[in-house]
Amino acid sequence: MTKPVRIPQMEPWFDAAEREALQTYMLGGGWVTEFKETKTFEDALAAFMGARHVIVTNNGTVALSLALLAVGVGPGDEVIVPDLTMIASPNSAKMIGAVPVFADVELPTLNLDVKAVQAAFTKATKAVMHVSFNGRSNDVERLRALCTARGVPLIEDSCQSLGSYFRPGRHLGTVGAVGCLSFSLPKIISTGQGGALMTNDDEIAGRIRRLKDFGRSGGGNDIHHSIGYNFKYTDLQAAVGLAQMKKLPWRVERKKQIWLRYAQGLAGIRQVEMLPTDLALVSPWFIDVFVDDREALQAKLDRVGIGTRPMYPPIHRQKAYGRDDLSFPVTEGYSMRGLWLPSSSQLSDADIDRVCAEIRTHYA
Ligand SMILES: Cc1ncc(COP(=O)(O)O)c(C=O)c1O
Repeated sequence: MTKPVRIPQMEPWFDAAEREALQTYMLGGGWVTEFKETKTFEDALAAFMGARHVIVTNNGTVALSLALLAVGVGPGDEVIVPDLTMIASPNSAKMIGAVPVFADVELPTLNLDVKAVQAAFTKATKAVMHVSFNGRSNDVERLRALCTARGVPLIEDSCQSLGSYFRPGRHLGTVGAVGCLSFSLPKIISTGQGGALMTNDDEIAGRIRRLKDFGRSGGGNDIHHSIGYNFKYTDLQAAVGLAQMKKLPWRVERKKQIWLRYAQGLAGIRQVEMLPTDLALVSPWFIDVFVDDREALQAKLDRVGIGTRPMYPPIHRQKAYGRDDLSFPVTEGYSMRGLWLPSSSQLSDADIDRVCAEIRTHYA
């Protein structure tokens, strides 16, 4: 009997479209560095999301650090971040000398608990970083109102949320002072590495552009009115990004179909929980399930050729932060049961059915 083909937890998806885009660009004599193609990619993203400004950069982590710098966060300032997120969220604050202050998340979205944010505010709080976990969002407009009342900017880590909305027609990452995206390999579109910042504020946009380009006062000159760095993109990545953008509407729909098929295939298994997800608004980046005895399920799926990935541990418990004195019950409860199932856009219905059948047999 031949072994069934392995289903990876995720895999990148580039094809002839990206190859041709790169070839066309190189044959056209482009300058490779950040230039016209980059601007076209930024414009395409801005149109897709309904943002006034989109500025691309090296990756999502750098985008978050730039966002914090652009709203005036500096060394010693506190930034409230959820305890359940990818570690880049707090690390982006650390990178600029700021202090991440952890707060619990709330159900059913696993987004920052607004009450926990209120309790975490101190005089030193200089930003709140909301993470729309897997494209789901809670009342981010209420959180912004709360931040505005305290004179603190809201930064949206919407790195997992391209194609997801907080209400009809309003894309995540466009409600806070600055939103951030990641184009790392597992994301719905990828440019290998890459990130973007969204803002509707002209002044903040100007600051971000200067920060990522040595603090230049204008394109290509060597006059510097402010301190800046080199966090620029390349036209090669933008050429790939533009080819990926053409596939984005289809992928958004496919992610929703994949979610639905898993939900139907796993329905009624007592040991498996899926969070309520409004597919009219959310394009789930990964398929996240919360299961009993996660390690045993993961080992069993691995044996039958199905890749999975355990969800992020609570950040405060990661050795990098070592804050075992803290406790966040929702984060702790969900993170330790969370498992990402195969989630690539190119999964076939038969792949999904196979994963569901193996999970059902495991718990039978
Ligand atoms: C929520 C969140 N924030 C930040 C990042 C960091 O993005 P990057 O890997 O592009 O630096 C990621 C990446 O997976 C993420 O999921």
